[in-house]
Amino acid sequence: MWPSLSSLHFASPAPRPLTARSQYEGGTGAPPPADGCSALPGYQLGSVRVSPGLALAPMAGLTDLTFRRVVRRCGHRGLVVSEILSSEGLIRGRLDPAEYLRIAPDEHPVALQLSGADPERMAEAARWCEGEGADVVDINMGCPASKVTKGLCGAALLRDPALAARVAGAVVRAVSLPVTVKMRLGWSESEVTFLEVARALEAEGVAGLALHARTRRQGYSGEADWDRVAQLKAEVSVPVVGNGDIRDPAQALSLWRRTGCDGLMVGRAAVKNPWIFRQIEELASTGSYGQPSFEERARLILGHFGELLALGPPGLALHRMKSFLGKYTAGMAGAAALRGALGSTREPGALLEALGKWVRESGAAPS
Ligand SMILES: Cc1cc2nc3c(=O)[nH]c(=O)nc-3n(C[C@H](O)[C@H](O)[C@H](O)COP(=O)(O)O)c2cc1C
Repeated sequence: MWPSLSSLHFASPAPRPLTARSQYEGGTGAPPPADGCSALPGYQLGSVRVSPGLALAPMAGLTDLTFRRVVRRCGHRGLVVSEILSSEGLIRGRLDPAEYLRIAPDEHPVALQLSGADPERMAEAARWCEGEGADVVDINMGCPASKVTKGLCGAALLRDPALAARVAGAVVRAVSLPVTVKMRLGWSESEVTFLEVARALEAEGVAGLALHARTRRQGYSGEADWDRVAQLKAEVSVPVVGNGDIRDPAQALSLWRRTGCDGLMVGRAAVKNPWIFRQIEELASTGSYGQPSFEERARLILGHFGELLALGPPGLALHRMKSFLGKYTAGMAGAAALRGALGSTREPGALLEALGKWVRESGAAPS
């Protein structure tokens, strides 16, 4: 039996709610936005308003319900997107809809992301998403993994604009929700097809596009080419969301202003810093932003693990938590020792013990 979350106490001071701006410490001292813009405008996806225009990127193994709620608790008010869900996996029963399509009441607006290359199967899976209460259905046209592309799914659809359009059209007609597509630039530098695919998708009634500005061949190497985001924005009239390599709030705002895109999507940086969306908003409206305290970070970690334990089997909760801990605790006092201790942990109770010890011993220590 592992200790309950309430039995773990914080060194100092007593836990406080996360919502008050006054809990943030420090700030960047960055000047207010030069264009006088007081906040990030939002964008419209059919009947769904995304405001501010910020989105948590879909990330397999990471953006499940528990992490989507983590970013909400850290003040994210825009869109959250689920991890990739194979339409075939859902329909054939390999993915349990009760687990993978589950949406919490406090995480709206939420998009569920589907992958697939069969228009009818995609349409059927999209209807399931609608039935589970999704606000948006997103279609994956960017996944580079060969297990996905070999079935003509993910980024492989960028090589066949006509099939991409048929898939999107079938999904658009199947649901009354807005349908979006997340795409890359193309298969490779010699096959850059995003503008052609985007025009075809827009003609099929897709409500918005997110562009991870790399090719499939690039994987995650090199740098995202945000000039291509500006190109896409000039090409289509639906909202365009830029994605790729956003690291911090100042850089995010500069990319947003430079490209004129409608929204920004953040992936990896949000796992290290789930407060980033709120910080981007703060920077846009006040010219500075705060940092979460040790206590806030510790509460976030314990809360996330508690929710994983409450919702899924303990082994899976442990596995998922381990993939977050290195990023959550980077740079924090005692984090290296904590990560070392966790490497061989096989029991959720031992992980919780180690976390509790770390909070008690490191809470008052400078990071
Ligand atoms: C671990 C991991 C899993 C990902 N899974 C998905 C996914 O399920 N669907 C998708 O469209 N993109 C996926 N991506 C790509 C991200 O959504 C995003 O496009 C990419 O990480 C670039 O954005 P970033 O630099 O802000 O992380 C994944 C990325 C990572 C790092």
